Amino acid sequence: MNPAPLSSPTAGIVARGLDKCFGEGEARVHVLKGADFTARLGEMMFLVGPSGCGKTTLLSIIAGTLAADAGELTVFGQDLRKLGGDGLAGFRAQRVGFVFQQFNLIPTITVAENVSVPLLITGHAPRVAEERARRMLARVGLADRADSRPGKLSGGQQQRVAIARALVHEPTLLLCDEPTAALDRDNGQQVMRLMREVARDAGRCVVIVTHDNRTYGYADRMAEMEDGRILRVLEDPAAIRAHHGATA
Ligand SMILES: Nc1ncnc2c1ncn2[C@@H]1O[C@H](COP(=O)(O)OP(=O)(O)O)[C@@H](O)[C@H]1O
Ligand SMILES: [Mg+2]
Repeated sequence: MNPAPLSSPTAGIVARGLDKCFGEGEARVHVLKGADFTARLGEMMFLVGPSGCGKTTLLSIIAGTLAADAGELTVFGQDLRKLGGDGLAGFRAQRVGFVFQQFNLIPTITVAENVSVPLLITGHAPRVAEERARRMLARVGLADRADSRPGKLSGGQQQRVAIARALVHEPTLLLCDEPTAALDRDNGQQVMRLMREVARDAGRCVVIVTHDNRTYGYADRMAEMEDGRILRVLEDPAAIRAHHGATA
C-alpha cells in the first residue's frame, strides 16, 4: 500500500503499526499485530476480513473507545494518544458517528428521541435537538415515522434511524460495523446509497466494516484484513469487483 503522509489534509485516518492484546498470561490474545490503515475524506473505505481477524477492535481504536497498546494514530491530523480522557470523550461525542450491526436503538423512546440523543449529549437544548432530529429523519426518508417506537419499524428502517442518529450531530467520521448484516438485499442497498451520499456530500470519512459482498460495489477502496494485519489495499473499485465478485 501507499501510506499517506501523517499530515496530509486528505488523510482522514492514518494508523500505523497498531498493536493490541486482550487479557493476561495464559488468556492473553494478540489481536492487532501491526495494523496499518488509512481512510481519506470523501471516500467509502471498506474493511473486510474473516470473523475474528480484528476488524471491530481496529474500528473501536479509531473511534477512540479503545486504546491501542502501540502504534500511531491520527484522525484529521489529531494524535488521539495526546488527547486526555476529557479530550477523547469530546472527540467521540463531536466528531464520530457509529453505526452498529444490530442498530442499538432504545426501544422505550420514539424514533425522533433516539435520533436526538447525540445532540443532547453535546449540550443542545431538547427543543433544538428534536427539531434537528426530525430534519435528519426526513433526509433518510423517515419523516412520517418520527413518533413511532423503533420496534414498529422494519429492519431497514431501523438501520436508517441508526444512521440518522449517527449523523445528526454532523460528525466528520462515520464508522459502521457490519451495517447491512441484519438487512435484506433491498434495504442493504438503500443503506449503502445513503452512506455514499453522506461521504460525497459532506466530505466525510466513512469506514465500513463488512463481509457482505452484496455491498462491495459501493467501495472506493478496500482494505483486506487477516489475523490482526492489513494484508492488502485494493485502490480501485474495478479491482475490488474483480477480486470479490461484487454484485452491487
Ligand atoms: N474485550 C475483549 N477481550 C478479549 N478478547 C477480545 C475482546 N474483544 C475482542 N476479542 C478477541 O479479539 C479477536 C478479534 O475480535 P474482533 O475485533 O471482534 O474481530 P472481528 O470484528 O474481525 O470479527 C477475537 O478473537 C475476539 O475474541
Ligand atoms: Mg466484528
